[in-house]
Amino acid sequence: MTQKSKIDFKQILDHSHIANPYPLYAQFRETPVALQEDGSYLVSTYNEVVSLLHDPRISSDMRKSDAQKRFMQQAKQKREEMIAQGQQVEEPEEIVPAFIFQDPPNHDRLRRIVTSQLTPERVENMSSHIEQIVKEHLDKHAQGGQIDIVDDLAYPLPVTVICQLLGVPREDEAQFHAWAEPLASVLDPGQVQTEEQQKQIMQAGRQMREYMGQLLQKLKAQPGDNLLSGMMAADDIDGAMSPRELISTAVLLLIAGHETTVNLITNGTLAMLRSPELLERLRQDPELIITYVEELLRYDPPVHFRTRTALADIQIAGTTIPQGATIILVLASGSHDGQRFERSEELIPDRQGNEHLGFGSGLHYCVGAPLARVEAHIALGEISRRLIEPKLALDPPPYRDNAALRGPRHLPVNFKGLR
Ligand code: HEM
Repeated sequence: MTQKSKIDFKQILDHSHIANPYPLYAQFRETPVALQEDGSYLVSTYNEVVSLLHDPRISSDMRKSDAQKRFMQQAKQKREEMIAQGQQVEEPEEIVPAFIFQDPPNHDRLRRIVTSQLTPERVENMSSHIEQIVKEHLDKHAQGGQIDIVDDLAYPLPVTVICQLLGVPREDEAQFHAWAEPLASVLDPGQVQTEEQQKQIMQAGRQMREYMGQLLQKLKAQPGDNLLSGMMAADDIDGAMSPRELISTAVLLLIAGHETTVNLITNGTLAMLRSPELLERLRQDPELIITYVEELLRYDPPVHFRTRTALADIQIAGTTIPQGATIILVLASGSHDGQRFERSEELIPDRQGNEHLGFGSGLHYCVGAPLARVEAHIALGEISRRLIEPKLALDPPPYRDNAALRGPRHLPVNFKGLR
């Protein structure tokens, strides 16, 4: 039997919950799988989220959902009507979905090619660059005063890092910063975009794909020791990446590693400045940063929910999710589940055996996790050690209007100088 409940997904999107959505998630977990007004299913408990993430009957390919099929049908009808009325209609661009939106076997082939190039050595080799970038950003504020952790450090860092890894020349990086924000909003399934915003997103996507196409041509003629050259040359038992696949993968690597890493660094700074005791422990014991970052990925993670489509009727927690339905997996709620984690609403910086859902689970588990960890360890370690008497200028800070990739828009911090 389907459980009808008052659990309403739209509450997550309501900006009044954005600074602290966790009490709302505790209410959600009273009904582990809850049918929503629009026919989708909200899943909020740890075991159910994990079990669905590992279930081959769920799909990441949005084209397979009833809602998306209806949307595509309406768009097609609208186009036909416009053509019938003699209006000029642009041909829709054919875009290969990035592998985060694909299912096996094609997902697995593309992911294998990425992981064959995004190796532990490549990530390890980035750490001295990352230290350098963090140092440069902080050194600009040697006099103290006010620093915005978002704009002055957490936001530029991941773009610079991913550009260097991919093989994007330094002088082109500024463009990437401009494209990243509108593109990242695509990953917020709940966000209603105005026509103007939709245009911006389409334009950023088009410009970035065009740029990538040209960069790939250059790298083909002159390969370098970077991810793009590696992915272009890599063969796979099931076939190499096509030029279109290379472009969509490069765009995905930029977006997926951008807003997420920004929010991890910002949420991590916020939590340590809210607790003088935690800040002191991190200063005294630099190794603590390792378990602290894992705990942040559980306690205040950057990715709050992901959606999937049921490919068959799925029975779970006394409910049948029908084929074609959209499933909203609230990862951040699963990571706060008291049935799975002791003292689940507390931040415990040395928590052991922390199997949080911050990077997902199953076949779409984050490929950038090792890189994200290195960036967060270095940035948060430096912030904790170098800022003299740091104090939050605003608490709570203003949040971005994105409930899926959740984090502060600004985090102003007053401090007296650098160590
Ligand atoms: C997938 C989180 C950083 C690239 C994911 C997923 C999560 C996640 C939750 C699973 C999505 C799903 O199941 O639908 C994060 C967080 C990060 C981070 C919290 C930073 C703190 C990065 C970085 C990169 C990256 C730095 C790129 C270098 C990807 C890609 C996927 C992914 C390509 C898709 C994997 C697949 O579909 O097989 N990430 N990510 N992420 N992430 Fe990350």
